[in-house]
Amino acid sequence: MLSVSSVALLLIQASSFFKAGYAASDESSLYGTWSSKSNQVFTGPGFYDPVDELLIEPSLPGLSYSFTEDGWFEEATYQVAGNPKDPTCPEASLIFQHGTYEILSNGTLILTPIAVDGRQLYSNPCDDKGVSTYTRYNQTELFKSFVVEVDAYHGVYKLQLYQHDGSPMQPLYLAYKPPMMLPTQTLNPTEGASNTDSGASATDTQAVNEKRSLRTLVRRSLENRHKTSAVKVHKGFWNSDTFWYLSAGLLGLGSVMFLYS
Ligand SMILES: *[C@@H]1O[C@H](CO)[C@@H](O)[C@H](O)[C@H]1NC(C)=O
Ligand SMILES: *[C@@H]1O[C@H](CO)[C@@H](O)[C@H](O)[C@H]1NC(C)=O
Repeated sequence: MLSVSSVALLLIQASSFFKAGYAASDESSLYGTWSSKSNQVFTGPGFYDPVDELLIEPSLPGLSYSFTEDGWFEEATYQVAGNPKDPTCPEASLIFQHGTYEILSNGTLILTPIAVDGRQLYSNPCDDKGVSTYTRYNQTELFKSFVVEVDAYHGVYKLQLYQHDGSPMQPLYLAYKPPMMLPTQTLNPTEGASNTDSGASATDTQAVNEKRSLRTLVRRSLENRHKTSAVKVHKGFWNSDTFWYLSAGLLGLGSVMFLYS
């Protein structure tokens, strides 16, 4: 909960930022982890576990992007679409991607994922008998422009992305700086680039061993990251560590089963 004094401080900070009219569209302004208003979806190990290749369902829908200053991005989205015929049957999808980004001289932002690393978990409970589909996902994203500015109302940095047709995305708010991200490298290099199957077969001992050693490497890398990396931004309307524990700790995917392992 916000105390009166922290609210007052936020108002002062927000109004001084507002007067300064901060607005930027470059690599250093993108730096950090951004999350939509639900503030329940964050990139990083709380959303996708590359060791077990698990997508972890957040408690509310939303989306998150992270950017480094040296050209890497990570994306996490959890979308739920209502089913007009049966409100008890919403479709849901979880998507993880990471890779490199580029800001063109005309201000357009292009995200180029590492094709073998992207994952999508899609569920349509009334049509798939409760069995979600888990597949690779590889989708280049183009944002015509973007701007980072201070949201005067919430007193936090806001990232506004504009889609390829110029329409605005839902605004994203700075949640972690430095960003909370998985290692900026290919996480699953031993697997084929096929869209729907797992590539390495369980009987292929060499592939399994390569994969195991990669997993050990990734695990170590994640452990190291936890010691040094993301710093939560203590501002605005989410001020409680419970958000992090909720998103990182509630790992239940309910009755979801995996076609992909
Ligand atoms: C910038 O250039 C790219 C590639 O030519 C193009 O796709 C994009 O629409 C351009 N952006 C703007 C804002 O004109
Ligand atoms: C990934 O997507 C890009 C562009 O959408 C495409 O050029 C590339 O061939 C795809 N890679 C794989 C392995 O599917």
